[in-house]
Amino acid sequence: MTRGQFITFEGGEGAGKSTQVARLAERLRAGGIPTVVAREPGGTPLGENIRDLVLQASPEPVTELLLFAAARAEHVAKVIRPALEHGTWVVCDRFIDSTRVYQGRLGGVPGDLIGAVETHSVAPIFPDLTLVLDLSVEEGLKRTEARGELSRFDAKGTEYHQRLRNGFLDIARAEPDRCVVIDGSRTPDEIADDIWRSVEDRLLAKAR
Ligand code: TYD
Repeated sequence: MTRGQFITFEGGEGAGKSTQVARLAERLRAGGIPTVVAREPGGTPLGENIRDLVLQASPEPVTELLLFAAARAEHVAKVIRPALEHGTWVVCDRFIDSTRVYQGRLGGVPGDLIGAVETHSVAPIFPDLTLVLDLSVEEGLKRTEARGELSRFDAKGTEYHQRLRNGFLDIARAEPDRCVVIDGSRTPDEIADDIWRSVEDRLLAKAR
């Protein structure tokens, strides 16, 4: 059986990731490709508990790194890897790049520690395609605010969000074989079509 493909969505807040995750999964399934949707932190009962802990408790960056990594190790071993091996595609809302940017670049956790944790909690299950939903800081905050969802992660200043955006863009530039930057300022339909073109070019064309 052919291995499934692993697609992750990354980006700052308010870029419309969850809408696009759902739309891509729908489109894949409509095309006859078995697909599961996942999110991080979360994805397993233990991971969901960790999600509640982290999102409520404002831990230290290194504590966050280890908690996210614990949730991710379970998620990869119990959900993502088995699905891919079964030929199912996995579309995941946030993954390793969120850790690199939030805990690494913004939290100040050293890159060697992040890299070591990544290697031992994820490898060799790296995403086949990462879609970075990119949006200006002003637009992102406006949208998040309009949804009434200013969580503790959102309640940071403009500079924080600018560094967040740059963090994802830098990863995309450094790993162009894996990452595609998607302009999130357009309508949901336009974004979904753009994402579909990337999936076709990068994954479906290869599988044919
Ligand atoms: P969530 O409510 O899912 O936010 P979003 O809709 O923006 O994805 O909360 C997830 C938060 O956790 C988000 O602010 C990013 C953060 N996060 C990390 O800091 N590190 C990680 O490794 C992951 C997966 C998420």
